[in-house]
Amino acid sequence: MKDEIYKFFADYVFKHSGISYKPGDYYRLDSRIMTLMRAFSVDTPEALYQLYVQNISKEMHTLLIDLFTNNETYFMRDVKPFKALAKGILPALVEKMTLPTPIQIWSCACSTGQEIYSIMMATETFGSSELLSKIRIEATDLSTEALAKAQKAEYNGLEVQRGLPANLLIKYFEKKEDQELWSVKPELKSRVTFAQFNLLKDKYPINKYHIVFCRNVLIYQEIENKRYILEKIHDALKPGGYLIFGAGESLIGVTLPFTQVEFEGAYVYQKKS
Ligand SMILES: C[S@@+](CC[C@H](N)C(=O)[O-])C[C@H]1O[C@@H](n2cnc3c(N)ncnc32)[C@H](O)[C@@H]1O
Repeated sequence: MKDEIYKFFADYVFKHSGISYKPGDYYRLDSRIMTLMRAFSVDTPEALYQLYVQNISKEMHTLLIDLFTNNETYFMRDVKPFKALAKGILPALVEKMTLPTPIQIWSCACSTGQEIYSIMMATETFGSSELLSKIRIEATDLSTEALAKAQKAEYNGLEVQRGLPANLLIKYFEKKEDQELWSVKPELKSRVTFAQFNLLKDKYPINKYHIVFCRNVLIYQEIENKRYILEKIHDALKPGGYLIFGAGESLIGVTLPFTQVEFEGAYVYQKKS
C-alpha cells in the first residue's frame, strides 16, 4: 500500500483522537483499512482513499474512529487499583464527607465497559454493599461502538473468562436464554451513566469528580496531548480527589499539583487540596 494512503488515515485519526500512528506502525493499519474497504464495498485501498478524500460522511468518520482506536480491555485488569479503591480510597473519602452525597467516579476511557463493572464488583467484594450504594459512575469513551457495548453490558464466553472469577460471574451476571451471552445485572447497570467524550476536544467539568480512572489511554498520546488531558483531568477532580492510571503509567514528564499515595500496594495520585 502507498505511504500516502497510510499517512492520510494516520493524520485523520491523529487530528480527531490524538492517537498517533508513526510510519513504523503503518503495518498496524492494514487490517483496519481492509475492514473499511469491506464496509464501503470498494476493492482497493486506492478506491477507499479516493472515497475518503472526496467527502467524509458522519458514518465514514464514526467507523474510521471505531476501527482505529484500540479497545483492548478485560475484567479486573491489573486488580490492584480495584482493591485500593474498595479498601482504601472509598473509605477515606467517606470518612471525610460531612453530607451523605454520592461519590462521583469518572471512567474517562471506559472502552467496552469491563472497567466500570469491575469498579462496582470490586467495591462490593473487597469493600461492602454500603460502599457500593454510595458510588455513581460516569462512563465515557470516544468510540461509538465501544460505548454502545459498554451500555448494553452483554459479554460473550471468551470475554467473561478474561479476568472474571467464577463467583463474580455468578453473582453479577445473568446468562441470556439460548445465547452464549452474559448480561450484567440491573443493580450494577443502574449506577452508571454513559456519554461520548473526546479527551482532546470536549469541554471538561470543573471540580466534579472524587475519582477519575484514566487507564491505558494516554499511552497512545503524544506528550503534548498527554499534558493537556492531564491538566484538564486535574481541573475536573475535586480537591483531594484521586487519579488512577493503568499499570506502568505515571505522571513522569508532567508537572501538576498531585501527590502520589499508596493504598494496598497500588500507587495513585491525589489532587492537592
Ligand atoms: C485500551 S482501551 C482502555 C480501556 C480501559 N480503560 C482499560 O484500561 O482496560 C483505550 C480506550 O481509549 C479510548 N480513546 C482513545 N482516544 C480517546 C480520546 N481522544 N478520547 C476518549 N477516549 C479515547 C479508545 O476508544 C479505547 O476504548
